[in-house]
Amino acid sequence: MTSLFEPGFIGPLKLKNRMIRSATWEGMCEKDGRPTQKLMDYYAGLVKGGIGLIISGYTYVRPDGKQMPGKMGIYTDDFAEDFKKLTRIVHGLGGKIAIQLVHAGGQADSKALGRKPVAPSAVKAAAFPEIPQALPILEIEDISDAFAKAAGRAKDWGFDAVQIHGAHGYLISQFLSPLTNLRTDEYGGSLENRGRFLFDVYEKIRNRVGKNYPVFIKFNGADHLENGLTRKDALEIAKQLSTAGIDAIEVSSGNAASGEKGPARTKINVPEKEAYNLDLSLGIKEAVTCPVIPVGGFRSLSIAEKAVAEDGMDFISLSRPLIREPDLPNKWMARETDKAECISCNKCFIPGMTKGGIYCVAKKKAE
Ligand SMILES: Cc1cc2nc3c(=O)[nH]c(=O)nc-3n(C[C@H](O)[C@H](O)[C@H](O)COP(=O)(O)O)c2cc1C
Ligand code: SF4
Repeated sequence: MTSLFEPGFIGPLKLKNRMIRSATWEGMCEKDGRPTQKLMDYYAGLVKGGIGLIISGYTYVRPDGKQMPGKMGIYTDDFAEDFKKLTRIVHGLGGKIAIQLVHAGGQADSKALGRKPVAPSAVKAAAFPEIPQALPILEIEDISDAFAKAAGRAKDWGFDAVQIHGAHGYLISQFLSPLTNLRTDEYGGSLENRGRFLFDVYEKIRNRVGKNYPVFIKFNGADHLENGLTRKDALEIAKQLSTAGIDAIEVSSGNAASGEKGPARTKINVPEKEAYNLDLSLGIKEAVTCPVIPVGGFRSLSIAEKAVAEDGMDFISLSRPLIREPDLPNKWMARETDKAECISCNKCFIPGMTKGGIYCVAKKKAE
């Protein structure tokens, strides 16, 4: 039986254990997306806490792909020295780091961008206020080129892997969903056409970084929305990604409009509410040959261990528990505790928006 604490591989990348920090926007970068010392210190804390792999917060590949304040950007060579310092710090402490690449598409904010957000079609993303501008084909191609350029920079600047953000209603997810993609050209309509942008992005990245560099994806196993990406279509895309050579699939679900079934569900206060994307991940695992990584709601060591040892998951991924307890992996390894302290209230977003970086604002447990 595989242990949560034994090494595993994402492509050629060896990780010391099966615990991954899922991409988490930290809100700690400069206005233009340049990483700061504060962010580097934050990552140092995560490495010291024992995590096998950090996936960076979502990082925009073109200026119009920005969304939240303090989000990291990798659209220019000007940040080379800052990024190299960041990866040096992580590696110096024995850690590994992947960068998550994104374009926010119609979920971006025109006040922050200074222009209308762009999207597959001029359809408002539910839960976002603006009608975006539909992308002409040349712009679609330019954005997939921007993903590849960003991946090349990431590789050159020392990141151990790149993760494509194909989940949560951002641009790739908008192309996949019939709700936000009403195009009648080769990028819309059939599943093959709706998936074309994702596969363009993947192929261009792969051509840029080569087959021995890990490229993986965070992907919605379902959107949980009427007329959104269905479980069946997601499974088919996952199969095709695996055949195309993707190195792992991290399985999430939902987007900002999915209510109680959004990506970061609240009130995970009983074991039955934990590991809420495990079921979708099990379906995907059966259909693919690459590693599968469920994310969402892991709060108990026993459930995380079972996912790897008995359910056949290759890794498990954590976001909010590590905001509260960056050293949770070490605590779990030492069996100091079973249950993460995070109460899944999502209030850590607030200081990210208003105070220059996320942190846990929930009351600490009484000593
Ligand atoms: C503050 C915050 C920021 C997040 N930023 C990202 C992000 O940049 N990219 C991403 O894919 N998911 C992001 N997520 C979602 C998490 O990665 C994760 O999928 C979700 O919170 C469920 O996992 P958890 O229960 O372990 O928190 C974020 C979640 C939180 C709470
Ligand atoms: S504020 Fe703290 S307890 Fe609430 S979700 Fe964020 S990390 Fe968890």
